[in-house]
Amino acid sequence: MRIALVSDLHVEYSGNREASHALASRLADQRPDALILAGDAGSTPPTILEGLEIFSEVAPVRMYVPGNHDLWVRLAPHRGGGDSWDAYDRGLAELAAAAGYHYLPSGVFIQNGVGFAGETGWFDFTFRPALPDLRELPVCVFEAAEFEGWSWPDFALCEWGMSVTEVTDVMLRRLSTKLARLDRDPAVRSIVAVTHHVPFRHHVNAWSPVCEIPERVWEYCTVFMGSTRLGDLLVQSPKTTLAVHGHSHVPGTWVVEREGGAPIRVARAPVGTEAERARSPEGRGLILEI
Ligand SMILES: [Fe+2]
Ligand SMILES: [Fe+2]
Repeated sequence: MRIALVSDLHVEYSGNREASHALASRLADQRPDALILAGDAGSTPPTILEGLEIFSEVAPVRMYVPGNHDLWVRLAPHRGGGDSWDAYDRGLAELAAAAGYHYLPSGVFIQNGVGFAGETGWFDFTFRPALPDLRELPVCVFEAAEFEGWSWPDFALCEWGMSVTEVTDVMLRRLSTKLARLDRDPAVRSIVAVTHHVPFRHHVNAWSPVCEIPERVWEYCTVFMGSTRLGDLLVQSPKTTLAVHGHSHVPGTWVVEREGGAPIRVARAPVGTEAERARSPEGRGLILEI
């Protein structure tokens, strides 16, 4: 089975509509069996739908997991005007259905012996900055979401009705239930786990001088990239051999070895921003075999 992976379309960013159309056409030429869109299609319902539709001809089967930007209900209300959970469980499910995508948070999908399980993920302060003076900062400094003139928008723009750690708890519980169901199913030979957030801390790219934000701010923002508990969950799922995600706009592929089990291949293939594509053009969209 050949799977096209893409994430972080952010179609409303400058140049990203064109880049997404060009990538969709390149991926379609390779005739994959399935497409995974691992979040951040847009940041308002119309741009999310537009992002989904740009990739709707790439493969006969398409799957979608929302990103944090897709859940910014305070930037633009989703249908019904509910909170981020309402958008997650209802509004985005409806958008995905309208665009012809399987919406993985609603349920697992199985094809040709491959099971797909997906939830967005979130962050819970288990990823810590590499810089020693930032690493031990109390959680409230990160909850403030402002640091040396830069801010992280999820606290202001999402509305969960609970703490971010509790959001992560719920996401993990839901993903765990899906993985357990697929692990138990004799018809499933392999599982592809899909998240938006990064499951393994060492897959968050280190700052480099070409980044447009200062090193200390980059390191501060590491906290918002994912959760070590996501990675722990994947490692405990024996049939999970491929884990794909988005959120970081730096593409990459890795292998996570585990004792007594098959290794897990990990991949992300974001469209990212124009500046990010100029810095690292390779890996923007990927075909994976399983
Ligand atoms: Fe993104
Ligand atoms: Fe994101």
